[in-house]
Amino acid sequence: MTSFDDLDFFTDPSFVPDPYPYFDHLRAKGPVVREPHHGVMAVTAYAEAQEVFRDTDTYSSCIAAGGPFPPLPFTPTGDDIDAQLDAHRTRMPLHEHMVVQDPPRHTRSRSLLTRLLTAKRLKENQDFLWQLADRQLDEFLANGQCEFLGAYAKPFSLLAIADLLGVPRDDHDEFREVLAKPHLMGNIEGQGAAINPLAFLDEKFSSYIEARRREPREDVLTELASAKFPDGATPEVTEVVRTATFLFGAGQETTAKLLSSALQILVDNPELQPRLREDRSLIPTFIEETLRTESPVKASFRLVRRSTSLGGVDLPAGTIVMVSPGAINRDPKRFTDPHEFRVDRENVRDQIAFSRGVHSCPGAPLARVEARISLERILTRMLDITADEQHHGPRGMRRYTYEPTYILRGLSDLHLRYTPAADE
Ligand code: HEM
Repeated sequence: MTSFDDLDFFTDPSFVPDPYPYFDHLRAKGPVVREPHHGVMAVTAYAEAQEVFRDTDTYSSCIAAGGPFPPLPFTPTGDDIDAQLDAHRTRMPLHEHMVVQDPPRHTRSRSLLTRLLTAKRLKENQDFLWQLADRQLDEFLANGQCEFLGAYAKPFSLLAIADLLGVPRDDHDEFREVLAKPHLMGNIEGQGAAINPLAFLDEKFSSYIEARRREPREDVLTELASAKFPDGATPEVTEVVRTATFLFGAGQETTAKLLSSALQILVDNPELQPRLREDRSLIPTFIEETLRTESPVKASFRLVRRSTSLGGVDLPAGTIVMVSPGAINRDPKRFTDPHEFRVDRENVRDQIAFSRGVHSCPGAPLARVEARISLERILTRMLDITADEQHHGPRGMRRYTYEPTYILRGLSDLHLRYTPAADE
């Protein structure tokens, strides 16, 4: 009989529909375990994961987005590979983006973003999201059925970021046309870290930023164009463009996956629908529990810069470490009956779907608001929501298809049926 250890987590499609038994299998062997096919050290326990996330001196993010693929452009030697790493950074995928940078460069890149995500901007964005949710629902509501990812989750999460960045409303349709298509990170068929900073986004944002630097206006793009580094230096246009375009790669697919998991949970546990409808204060914890049980980022990666040990296991410099929110959020030492969905789980805020430490997701407040507003409007306007049995089979025997990636966790499609509410 084939055992888990015979199969390669990074390429075998059998892990995609349900990776959780495999994560349990790894954790049963120890908090830090060597996966046999690529020598990746898998961290599946909560406490050890915190250690990794918080110690940037020991663990580099240079491979955060792809892990073992593509292979390192150098052969690590010795107990400290910092010099080697620095010499090869520009040959590593996405090196110009903050998610794979380490301090101090990371601190500088991230500072541009924190200047953009102010309370004022998030509040204005939130006002737009209420309108957007209804506009999206208006497009298909009367049909009584939809494919939720294409009809709602993807365009909604895309336009949420477009508005956050101040993309002019006249350009929204064009953004939707070009970007609401699948772009997979860590595709198990193709391998590699292809986030989608498409040429389209580069071109659009370069022209926005250049135009606002020439002629400032009273708008968000002007704020972005005039943002400075903490030392007062003005960033190059490309640095600003990168900050903006990366948000689409980091924030669209992930939030679309959260929204579709939330709806999947609601149709598989229909008793939750009236419960949330009647007590809206449960919605935020419902969202946290969705993030815990179906963490959209299934795995992220670090490279050991200096030989160390973790959970009693030696990790030589150059070791690839997989810290998997999907596994850590189901660590029974932290979460009682971790595979059970509990809408009133007391310590649900301990979930780490947005990671921890200096790289923890700066888009988390936006993702949470997107989910809350969507659920508020969906529960109000769509009644008796069920999975379409023609596509997904009856309750208890559901068939769902998940995106074939080792990095993200989420459905490829979700066909729903529902009764449109007569009034709101
Ligand atoms: C449910 C939705 C989301 C989830 C689960 C999620 C998860 C994550 C995780 C786990 C990381 C850290 C990766 C690591 O430590 O290696 C991260 C980083 C990041 N996320 Fe999110 N994210 C979501 C939505 C968003 C949104 C909406 C935005 C933007 C508006 C965003 C922007 C970013 C950026 C820029 C980073 C890099 C931060 C850094 O390296 O300092 N994310 N996200």
